[in-house]
Amino acid sequence: MADKKFRRIGVLTSGGDAPGMNAAVRSVVRTAAQNGLEIMGVFGGYRGLVDNDMKLLGSRDVSNIISMGGTMLFTDRCDEFKEEAGLQKAMKTCQENKIDGLVCIGGDGTFRGAQDLTRRGIPCIAIPGTIDNDISATDYTIGYDTAMNTVVDLVDKLRDTCESHARCNVVEVMGRNAGYIAINTGIATGAVGIAIEEFPFDADGMIEKMKELKKAKKRNFIVIVSEAFGAEFSENLAKRIDEETGIETKFARLAHVQRGGRPTLRDRELASLMGYKAVELLLEGKSNLIVNIRNEVIGCEDIEYALCYDKLCKGKIKVEDIKGFTDEQIAKMVADAEIRRQRMLSSYEIASKISI
Ligand code: F6P
Repeated sequence: MADKKFRRIGVLTSGGDAPGMNAAVRSVVRTAAQNGLEIMGVFGGYRGLVDNDMKLLGSRDVSNIISMGGTMLFTDRCDEFKEEAGLQKAMKTCQENKIDGLVCIGGDGTFRGAQDLTRRGIPCIAIPGTIDNDISATDYTIGYDTAMNTVVDLVDKLRDTCESHARCNVVEVMGRNAGYIAINTGIATGAVGIAIEEFPFDADGMIEKMKELKKAKKRNFIVIVSEAFGAEFSENLAKRIDEETGIETKFARLAHVQRGGRPTLRDRELASLMGYKAVELLLEGKSNLIVNIRNEVIGCEDIEYALCYDKLCKGKIKVEDIKGFTDEQIAKMVADAEIRRQRMLSSYEIASKISI
């Protein structure tokens, strides 16, 4: 798949770290090396482009990182890069270091950066790496599976002690504004209630159910809450449950522990396949794409399309966002968004029906 146009490409990880980012970096480096390309590891996300912080990586430099959490390239959310002056510095760094293309691993902020650089002449391919799974153009993001397994492991431990003491534990999980981690870990831990922003949460109904279950001698109760509700919500809910049910209720915010740890098989595999695909796309002369997985097939989507579709799925779309897309594309976005919504709704409803 080699193309003479590319001699040296860069790879960076940006935004919140996610387990599996290292596996993606490894795959990018090795695929590039296999194709006779030099590869520059850029440190600290886009900050490394602004500050010219990078080094050449060979295949052996990424040995043994496949099983490691975090990112060996470090990461940052770089405000300077969002300004034109910062972008120009980044462009200059790419030119000085003879970087012909970039693979950018991260969330939607990372994609916008990749889009900005592509528009200015550095072809970029983005890979979705975030525990939140809040990138609508892909079924799974790198790190999501590991984060969910971490939550399940921790909540299982909480359940043990809840059972011993006949308690409830309200557990707040990450996901930013998205309820994917909450809904799936709620199902997987048998939570009595799951609160996500996407669908109405019936706190009264849940409390009534808990009273009934207490009468039926149920001793442990887990309630999973998405962090999207804000800092006070979970703690207040715990107090309310305690007062209204008479079940002693504790609160736990799992926080950044969800971002660390060894990536699961699923994340390592996904990251490895996506890393390979990203380099393949660059070598085919493509750019401004995000690599994705849909219905178990690794593919790609135009970044503009992916960002627009994402806004649609999140109910944030404005008229100006859809300018430039054909009626057919918009109809497809609407239909796909509805499928995605229905899938989540179905999980939400089933979770409630079986938590009795
Ligand atoms: O996007 C990943 C994420 O962990 C979110 O789930 C969370 O809301 C946010 O990042 C936390 O950001 P920070 O690491 O800046 O505290």
